[in-house]
Amino acid sequence: MKQRMIKDFIEIFGKGGEYHVYFAPGRVNLIGEHTDYNGGHVFPCALTLGTYAVVRKNNLNTFRFFSQNVKNPYIIEAPLEKPTNRPNYRWANYPLGVIWSFWEAGMEVTQGFDMLVWGNIPSGSGLSSSAALEVLTGTILKEEFGFVVDATQIALLSQKSENQFNGCNCGIMDQFASANGKKDHAIFLDTATLEYEYAPIVLENAKIVVTNSKVKHSLVDSEYNNRRRESHQALEDLQKVLSIQTLGDITTEEFDAHQDVIRDEVCRRRARHAVYENCRTIKAVKALKEGNVSYFGQLMNEAHVSMRDDYEASCPEVDALVEMAWGIHGVLGCRITGGGFGGCTVAIVKDDAIEDYQKIITRGYNEKYGLTPEFYIVDIGAGAGRI
Ligand code: GLA
Repeated sequence: MKQRMIKDFIEIFGKGGEYHVYFAPGRVNLIGEHTDYNGGHVFPCALTLGTYAVVRKNNLNTFRFFSQNVKNPYIIEAPLEKPTNRPNYRWANYPLGVIWSFWEAGMEVTQGFDMLVWGNIPSGSGLSSSAALEVLTGTILKEEFGFVVDATQIALLSQKSENQFNGCNCGIMDQFASANGKKDHAIFLDTATLEYEYAPIVLENAKIVVTNSKVKHSLVDSEYNNRRRESHQALEDLQKVLSIQTLGDITTEEFDAHQDVIRDEVCRRRARHAVYENCRTIKAVKALKEGNVSYFGQLMNEAHVSMRDDYEASCPEVDALVEMAWGIHGVLGCRITGGGFGGCTVAIVKDDAIEDYQKIITRGYNEKYGLTPEFYIVDIGAGAGRI
């Protein structure tokens, strides 16, 4: 693949100079959804699926980008200056956003470069292809221009670019996982402090299986931003009676005792999800450390119900996938993963049930929605870097 991309790079941008190849992974979140902008915990892991780039500095005072993942691709050019978001830069607004973020932080990029991008994260699947592209760009800037930033700073600069340059008010989870991933480990991250620990993923005779519903409902970004606003409104009501900074600061008991101060019923449910999901994530990681995979699976199931009913961030197609999975012998747990409104489910499936799982889900989903799901047996990989 590396050789193939270098060959393509030469064909597209011409010969000469020194190239380097980089990789940044996508992620799957095992539990802890919509908690990252609510000061709670998340538990994602980096995938071996991700985005690759071949990069070479140029002397053209221009940033040039080419993606092998878009239809009818062509070179997108932007001048060597602090970038602004423009519709004609299309997907290149993601790498340009990260250049902008670095620039804002005092790290001016002083030379143009050529960047060929190709990735194997299915787009729109909720496995964070955009975070991978951002973290990939941050890693390239660090390595090529010698900026002194660690993986967590790259994640934060990437998140800033997504929030302020590309208009999605996402939390830190995806970029953090892509930058800090570790082979065979998930990351237990406290998003209030950014303290984290790696938890080895040891699943006796079972695997993590991601199932792609192949649906992505429109308005994902606006719905996402709405959820964020509703959670915040609930927090403001709670702050009238509790001295807290985020919804991650309270237990489920405290929430139950004070929830009536949240005036709006919808906001109350959003907050209930955020508080319960955070506590559930802490419990789930403890269970996993104690080797209690079946309890971890049960908590995944509860997490789905909460996403579906309180946060209303699922959709009928994904609910159908999850409900079918719950009925299959050998499935320890299954839930929607990522931002929601489509995308993927994540399940823990016993090795000897994986074949049945795939058959039953494919048949059932096809009958109900006429769609063919895709399956990925997760291989947990390392974070971004030069390869
Ligand atoms: C998206 C966002 C993340 C996080 C998840 C939901 O993936 O980018 O920051 O909020 O949704 O858990």
